[in-house]
Amino acid sequence: MQEPLRLGLAGLGTVGSSVARLIEQHGDDLAARIGRPVRVTGISARDRSRSRDFSTTGIEWFDDPVALARSDATDVFVELMGGEDGVALQSVTTALEHGKSVVTANKALLAKHGNRLAQLSEEHGGALAFEAAVGGGIPVIKTLREALGGNRVSRVYGILNGTCNYILSRMEAEGISFGDCLRDAQALGYAEADPTFDVEGYDAAHKLSILTSIAFGTRIDRDSIFIEGISSIEPVDFAAAEELGYRIKLIGVAKRAESGIEQRVHPAMVPKDCDIARIKGVTNAVAIDGDFIGSLMLSGPGAGGNATASAVVGDIVDLARGARTPPLGRPTSSMEPYVRAKIQKHAGGYYLRLNLPDRPGAFASIARRMADAGISLASIVQRNRPAGAAPRSELDLVQSVVIITHETTEEAVRGVLAQFEAEGDVHGRPQLIRIEEF
Ligand SMILES: NC(=O)c1ccc[n+]([C@@H]2O[C@H](COP(=O)([O-])OP(=O)(O)OC[C@H]3O[C@@H](n4cnc5c(N)ncnc54)[C@H](OP(=O)(O)O)[C@@H]3O)[C@@H](O)[C@H]2O)c1
Repeated sequence: MQEPLRLGLAGLGTVGSSVARLIEQHGDDLAARIGRPVRVTGISARDRSRSRDFSTTGIEWFDDPVALARSDATDVFVELMGGEDGVALQSVTTALEHGKSVVTANKALLAKHGNRLAQLSEEHGGALAFEAAVGGGIPVIKTLREALGGNRVSRVYGILNGTCNYILSRMEAEGISFGDCLRDAQALGYAEADPTFDVEGYDAAHKLSILTSIAFGTRIDRDSIFIEGISSIEPVDFAAAEELGYRIKLIGVAKRAESGIEQRVHPAMVPKDCDIARIKGVTNAVAIDGDFIGSLMLSGPGAGGNATASAVVGDIVDLARGARTPPLGRPTSSMEPYVRAKIQKHAGGYYLRLNLPDRPGAFASIARRMADAGISLASIVQRNRPAGAAPRSELDLVQSVVIITHETTEEAVRGVLAQFEAEGDVHGRPQLIRIEEF
């Protein structure tokens, strides 16, 4: 048997400690599969005194992850600290500049610096592997980059954030508000104390930016993604969706459009009978449409120490066997610049919920102006005050109207909504949810 493959593991938290335990528990199997043992020989974290749930005996401690990254005793640097800059960036850059291979689960780092890191990997010969960065344990990077390498991809989309899917699934099942559901998710450990990054769509956007690059051969461009979170979704939207045959999901979509590639993360109405609609709770799913494969969907655990460690170690196995793939699926020199298709040009159906004054002709006027803007209506659901309930205030004098449009453009819809708001035809902010057909 050959010399062991020596891993420098920086970050011993949820994912890092699971990676160490997996290697501890499956060491013999891994060695048999690869033809050489895999050992964690160096570790780094912030707090040296904290006890870890794997054996650290015989493993060298490094106070500085950058020193671990450049150590002669490290063959593969495994970055599991997190953060888009700082020590994660410094240590990964250092490892690549020293010609070492890097495995990371850090989507924030890749979304911001992935183009440059991929180039460093090519220049110095070390691999850059990041299966765990998108979809946790779901092997979507390898599927898209390698198994589907013969296809021209037209669309990649999915449920890329388990926290949002958990919240939306519970709001739908229990009719509870976003705020109550978020508090429960935090108590159960499914949402961070500061949930902004997840619920406002940024985490999903980071993952989408990586998928887009691999799917379309374009440079990663996270800053061009149109992002809307889920905090404005209300129980009444789920009730209307149920009536109309939809579910509400936070989806990330990248697809070819006439003017470029759309990249967007937002809540969407998806038909109840489609595969994505059936994904519940913290589960993630990624679907890919390719010209020869047709459509396929992968689903599974998008987070959690063990599932994510499974993807990290899968990358380590590949590297140990000598597999070398351009990190983003093609050499960086042949990647195209990302050309953004503006969201205003997005074409699709829309769900609109408007609060109108409860007076004769209010809806007819709205419908007429939508027709004038070229927007045709597919269905209308009027949600009146409960029978017999007396208005308590002027604001109570409203009827809630839900409209589903036929295919139109974002520009047209935004235009009429802005007009309704400016002219006082609606109370409060209209709700707009895009309809995604699969
Ligand atoms: N958790 C998941 O389910 C999941 C899923 C997919 C991807 N990821 C990604 O995996 C990475 C790690 O996530 P995690 O959940 O395992 O994080 P975590 O539990 O917070 O662990 C972070 C680890 O990094 C160490 N660390 C932080 N800053 C450091 C520094 N400046 N120098 C040295 N060590 C430092 C911490 O040290 P101490 O232990 O001493 O505090 C800790 O061991 C992130 O990029 C995350 O986005 C996580």
